[in-house]
Amino acid sequence: MTILIASSDRVSLETTPCQLPVSRVDIAGQNMVEATRWLIVGAGGFGREVFSWTSGQLRATLSCCPVGFLDDDPKSLAQFPSLKERWAGPISTYLPQHGDRLLMAIGDPTSKLAVGDALRARGAVFASFVHPTAVIAHDVHIGVGCIICPFAVVCCNVRFGDFVSMNVGSVAGHDSIIGDGCTLSPHSDVAGQVSLKRGVFVGCQTAILPKTQIGEFARIGAGSVVINHVSPGASMMGVPAKRISWSQQDPDFDQPELMAG
Ligand SMILES: CC(C)(COP(=O)(O)OP(=O)(O)OC[C@H]1O[C@@H](n2cnc3c(N)ncnc32)[C@H](O)[C@@H]1OP(=O)(O)O)[C@@H](O)C(=O)NCCC(=O)NCCS
Repeated sequence: MTILIASSDRVSLETTPCQLPVSRVDIAGQNMVEATRWLIVGAGGFGREVFSWTSGQLRATLSCCPVGFLDDDPKSLAQFPSLKERWAGPISTYLPQHGDRLLMAIGDPTSKLAVGDALRARGAVFASFVHPTAVIAHDVHIGVGCIICPFAVVCCNVRFGDFVSMNVGSVAGHDSIIGDGCTLSPHSDVAGQVSLKRGVFVGCQTAILPKTQIGEFARIGAGSVVINHVSPGASMMGVPAKRISWSQQDPDFDQPELMAG
């Protein structure tokens, strides 16, 4: 059984190209010993998935499971009978207790970064989670508050910022840099030496070709193939991907494009 749950500091993995070795549990264990209450931030679809992925692992390794969800909507779990008692309170009024560990499960990068920053300013401690079926290559750096879902693949020499989410079956190619708050949706494929700046959203079943740079808060539509650099704030769709709109209204984003799309 392998699991990585790290809290306070960023984690550098220097492992052989295989699933996380048992030694990672030792590192995780130091943090887990202190953890007394696990909470998932966000009770949307991704939050419920994170509950599924983490509860089995926490039960196996620590004989516990996440106690509940923080979400500003008290009715967010009302239609899910097995979870509806697990709403643990609003994010906006959450005050950290000693031993709390938070798992970031908001998909939208802008909301995720805003909530993450606000909670950390209140002293909240985030953990990162790597599902045991994920494959992590050597010399990989994973930030705080990251979620690596089942069957994701992180290739060698990849650098993650904080609050990165990799959904099921997504790939981060060798030497790629994935900035704070980025979300990789299921089966998205980020090729080698790609740079995703802060807050990039990558839709399902996309391909981002090698060495491309994707600007801050850009969005890549589901099924797209990105062949050139993408400007900050651009929404891209299609094969090859073309810009269809700006996802941010900030005038700073309306600058000469890095690419033709
Ligand atoms: C890129 C994206 C975020 C843009 O969303 P949006 O700004 O709300 O855009 P809209 O949904 O209003 O669509 C705008 C237009 O683009 C089209 N469009 C939307 N997504 C598209 C896609 N992936 N590929 C091609 N065309 C697309 C719409 O049909 C619409 O066309 P129209 O103006 O002719 O009616 C969204 O389209 C997308 O692909 N999201 C990814 C979803 C996903 O993978 N989620 C993962 C969940 S786990």
